[in-house]
Amino acid sequence: MQIHTTIASLRAARANAGKVALVPTMGNLHDGHIALMHEAVKQAGTVIASVFVNRLQFGPSEDFDRYPRTFEADCARLQAAGVGHVFAPHEAEMYPQPQGYHVEPPPEQAGILEGAFRPGHFRGVATVVLKLFNVVAPNVAVFGKKDYQQLMVIRNMVQQLALPINVVGLDTIRAADGLALSSRNGYLTPAERAEAPRLHRQLAAIADAVRQGQRDFAALEAAALTDLQQHGWQPDYLSVRRRADLQAPQSAADPLAVLAAARLGKTRLIDNLEI
Ligand code: PAJ
Repeated sequence: MQIHTTIASLRAARANAGKVALVPTMGNLHDGHIALMHEAVKQAGTVIASVFVNRLQFGPSEDFDRYPRTFEADCARLQAAGVGHVFAPHEAEMYPQPQGYHVEPPPEQAGILEGAFRPGHFRGVATVVLKLFNVVAPNVAVFGKKDYQQLMVIRNMVQQLALPINVVGLDTIRAADGLALSSRNGYLTPAERAEAPRLHRQLAAIADAVRQGQRDFAALEAAALTDLQQHGWQPDYLSVRRRADLQAPQSAADPLAVLAAARLGKTRLIDNLEI
C-alpha cells in the first residue's frame, strides 16, 4: 500500500491505474469505513482511500481540534482491507490558500435537517469532495448511508455538475446493540454508551409503525422525541422524510426514511433508517 501526501504523487500513481474507486474518510476508521473499502475492492481494481480531517465542514464550536486522529492504526486496517493507495494530505496541500471557491449546495437540500443545525457544513463537505474527485478522478466513489443527507447532496452534485463518477451508497454498519458505528462514539462515557442505542431503537420503532400503516408522522416523531428527552437526550431533529430529496412526505407511494440527530452529554449522534 502506498501513502501519498501530495496531489502530484497521488496523480502519478492514479495515471497508471485502470478503474479506480475512491473512499473519502476523515480517518479514525471503524468497521463501517472498512465495509466501504470492501465494497470499493469489489467495484474497481484500484482502491484509493483518502484520510483528511476537513476543517471547512466543521463549525466554529465543533470538534475539529479534538477529532480523533489515528493514522497509523488506520493504515494497518486499510492495508488489510486491500486498499492500494492512501491519500493523506496535510492541510497546506489541500488548502494552500484559504479556500475562496466553494461548492454551494442549494438551501432546500443543505439548509434542512443537519444543515439547519450545522450552517455551512454541506458547503464544506461538497467543496472538499469535489476537490478530492478532481485530485483522484475516480470512476466510482463509495459513501455510507449513515450520513444520509451527505450522500444525497453528493449524488445531486455529481448529477448537476455532470461528473463522470458512479456514486455507491452502502448500508450503515452497527454494533450488536444497534448503535451506528461512528468515530464520535469514542467520546461517550460508559453510561452514555449504554444509553446510546436508544436512538436506533426509536428510529426502528417508527419504521415498524409506518410499515404497519401508521401515517401520523408528527405523533410518532413527538413520542420518540419525548422518550429521548426523558432519558437525558437533547434532540436536534427526528423526522420522517422522503428518501429522494429529504422533504416532507407527499404521497403514500413515496419511499421514506426517518432521520435524527441528538446530543447525549457532549456528544452529538446522528442516525437514520430507510423505511
Ligand atoms: P467520515 O465521517 O470519516 O465518514 C467516511 C465515510 O464513512 C462516509 O461515507 C460515511 O457515511 C461512512 N460511514 C461512517 N460511519 C459508517 C457506518 N457506521 N456504516 C457505514 N458507513 C459509515 O463523512 C465523512 O467522513 C466526511 O464528511 C467526508 C465525506 C470524508 C468529507 O470530508
